[in-house]
Amino acid sequence: MTTQETHTQSPILVFPTDFAWGAATSAYQIEGAVSEDGRGASIWDTFVRQPGRVVNGENADVAIDHYHRYRDDVALMADLGLGAYRFSVSWPRIQPDGSGAVNVKGLDFYSRLVDELLAKGIDPWVTLYHWDLPQALEDAGGWPSRDTAQRFADYAAIVHDALGDRVRNWSTVNEPWCAAFLGYASGEHAPGRREPAKAMHAAHNLLRAHGLAVQAMRAQRQDTRIGGCVNLYAISPQTGSEADVDAARRIDGLQNRFFLDALLKGAYPEDVLQDLGPMADFVRDGDMDVISVPLDMLLINYYSRFTVSGVPGGAASAAAAPTDSGSPWVGSEHVSFVNAGRPVTAMGWEIDDSGLYEILLRLAREYPRVPLVISENGAAFDDVVTEAGAVLDHERLAYIEAHLRTCHAAIEAGVPLQGYFAWSLMDNFEWAWGYGKRFGLVHVDYGTQRRVPKESALWYSGTIRRGGLNGPAE
Ligand code: FCB
Repeated sequence: MTTQETHTQSPILVFPTDFAWGAATSAYQIEGAVSEDGRGASIWDTFVRQPGRVVNGENADVAIDHYHRYRDDVALMADLGLGAYRFSVSWPRIQPDGSGAVNVKGLDFYSRLVDELLAKGIDPWVTLYHWDLPQALEDAGGWPSRDTAQRFADYAAIVHDALGDRVRNWSTVNEPWCAAFLGYASGEHAPGRREPAKAMHAAHNLLRAHGLAVQAMRAQRQDTRIGGCVNLYAISPQTGSEADVDAARRIDGLQNRFFLDALLKGAYPEDVLQDLGPMADFVRDGDMDVISVPLDMLLINYYSRFTVSGVPGGAASAAAAPTDSGSPWVGSEHVSFVNAGRPVTAMGWEIDDSGLYEILLRLAREYPRVPLVISENGAAFDDVVTEAGAVLDHERLAYIEAHLRTCHAAIEAGVPLQGYFAWSLMDNFEWAWGYGKRFGLVHVDYGTQRRVPKESALWYSGTIRRGGLNGPAE
């Protein structure tokens, strides 16, 4: 046996045996079939039809047709050896108008999907909300309205009641930061409103929705594991100047601590409330107890680090929208985002796995101990299909490998990290960017819907089978 073979067969960086090795998707980005089997309209169905919202005017009416191809997609996951699959349920499939009667056909789809996954030995991880609010609820006020949170808890209970006998791992709202600030402050995402003060109410109600849903689900059964899901960034000031350090404090406050402190400590950070001034008018008695209901785990989506400056003049937003939009940074619009010179992905997002390490260690150090899961991590690159039909996406492979090494280092340092989900299983509809940005481990030909695992998928598959990473020689 050569040294190389030894490396291939015995991982050097071994992960815990019960580590969840997965990949993630979301309903609107992959399902298509937007008018089938009684599905109602979501805010994204409306948004994509408004001129100038999505690059090239693209929509997800068909997306990657997962609604019809889910069996093949699950077979593909099984071929890759995935241990877990994180997907989201489309609220307007379950309640077409966002409240009231259940659309049984919608629920049946997810029931069949869960059965298919279980039959192949893949653990289903359900996310209840990945941004596709029923349009009827937006018409009634959307997330800035307190009532939407209660509607969400009702919907969560319906899905949990139907699938809780087979699905153990649940999360409530995916990335409330994006849903609130991109949806209601910058307008980059559906419903495309630019009302900063309302965005703060949206953020608070998304957190209330989370807490109310957890309470409703716990009342039904205690054997499921429920988590909240946040998108966290490492944040650095560009220089040590007072202005830059204050800019970093503000962005860290709005992006990370606003959500983490509310969920895990039961209070919004004082400095953020002060920055918001009169806009900090959203908390009512009892809300923080609801929001900080104990969790079984915290799901973290990590992509990049922000370097910020207190001197205005840089790009308005690090995650700058492809289309005309405002700033998502309510109360901190003067902060600018600086390119720190690291390599970037096709999104222009700087690649920095040390940011993930920083976040994981910070969570373990500064917050009450809760099991952690990386629920999204990945990168878009401009993939090229070779004549032989392969996609040699070495940059994506390197991105995922580097972040997995970081995960391993964090576990070694004592962080209770229990799983990793690559974003995304397959190329799909990347919101305001349309189909131009490919995050998949699996390439999708949007003309034929043909799926071909990229080099990164094959590498990830080997990593899962080995239960760990090879040494640097790989
Ligand atoms: C996250 C979203 C996911 C996808 C990735 C790239 O913010 O949760 O749907 O768009 O970014």
